[in-house]
Amino acid sequence: MNYRNNNLYVENVSVQKIIKKFGTPSYCYSLNKIKSNIRNYKKNFRSINPLLCFAVKSNSNIQILKEIKKMGVGADVVSKGELLLSLKAGINSKKIVFSGVGKSQDEIKFAINKNILLINAESESEIDLIEKIAKVKNKKINIGIRLNPNIDSKSIRKISTGNRDDKFGLTEKNFLKIIKKYKSSNNLNIKCLSVHIGSQITSYKPYEKMLKVISSVIKKSNYNFDFIDLGGGIGIKYNNDTKIFNYYKYNSIIKKFLTDHKSKIIFEPGRSIIGDAALLLTKVIYIKKTNKINFVILDAAMNDFMRPALYGAVHKIISINKNKKIIKKNHEFVGPICETTDKFLSISKFQTLNEGDCLAICDVGAYGMVLSSNYNLRTKPPEILINNSLSKVIKKRQKLINII
Ligand code: LLP
Repeated sequence: MNYRNNNLYVENVSVQKIIKKFGTPSYCYSLNKIKSNIRNYKKNFRSINPLLCFAVKSNSNIQILKEIKKMGVGADVVSKGELLLSLKAGINSKKIVFSGVGKSQDEIKFAINKNILLINAESESEIDLIEKIAKVKNKKINIGIRLNPNIDSKSIRKISTGNRDDKFGLTEKNFLKIIKKYKSSNNLNIKCLSVHIGSQITSYKPYEKMLKVISSVIKKSNYNFDFIDLGGGIGIKYNNDTKIFNYYKYNSIIKKFLTDHKSKIIFEPGRSIIGDAALLLTKVIYIKKTNKINFVILDAAMNDFMRPALYGAVHKIISINKNKKIIKKNHEFVGPICETTDKFLSISKFQTLNEGDCLAICDVGAYGMVLSSNYNLRTKPPEILINNSLSKVIKKRQKLINII
């Protein structure tokens, strides 16, 4: 994404043209940004040669999954729907891992039938159920066991998952108990230790602590895991206050870890692959001025993009036509939904704006469209994929007729 003569472009297509063709609100992705994020991820971890399984929950557009698959990336899924979609996108079942605390019997059977790489189980009851199903099918199933390492990821509390009191994974004690119980099972093959301590993590330090815990648990278990699945979670730079994640350090602590444990590393990145590869394009419907605030009322709302309302997440808003006339006054960028929390950003200055102007909300590729809803009976926006000079609709705008 770049400005040419003060006009915003996604790759080689002007955003003004995209809006003219597809309207607002619209999600607009850059294919080459997604590809370069994957290439960078692979480059940063080249020395440990991990298996990358894209976290489908962060973005489940099938055209995007197909592109990601072409780059040799697998999938981390958390439901039958995501598993079906990944297979439909052509992702090899031997590159698919299935996470989640509440897999139903139907989902487990489906995953077993599809011969996926790993079912990452999160409770004793789930593991008992997998064993029971495997016995009936007379099969030996590859599973991972998720450890709750009791680590504070120092991220937003609402998206942290590795504390003792979070619902995810097994405590060290229960983890060790399961290994003992099932290590010689005829129907379960414990292949993997998995963890995931949270999302939008901007420092390598929580990961360093996590690896120490894993290392100690492996030693106590006296068991060899073919895979160590480190989950996702690497943060991206949403604004100037966000620290840039130190990939070099993370890679080197994993390398050190691997000198003691000979396992293949799996990563489940979502945000770091797709987060900064999309804009949400929107139009100013009205500007309502009070003494203190200019309310900029947009045609995009919290139903289109939930992160600010749900987590207080801060996403930059930029103009698609830059001008230099800055107004120093509080601006609140809000949507039309009847909730005070339907607000994208508060900012103390912005360039002069008129009703009808178009703006872009940045870094909405991860947990954007997937979290959209029909709240207030609003239709969901389309998704547009830009590849150099080409633009293609990869999901059509929902029609009112189909939701009424
Ligand atoms: N693996 C597991 C088991 C996960 O639970 C998640 C995310 C990921 C991988 C991918 O994490 P990532 O690399 O994208 O950080 N809706 C929230 C984020 C929820 C994350 C849920 N789990 C948000 O918008 O910030």
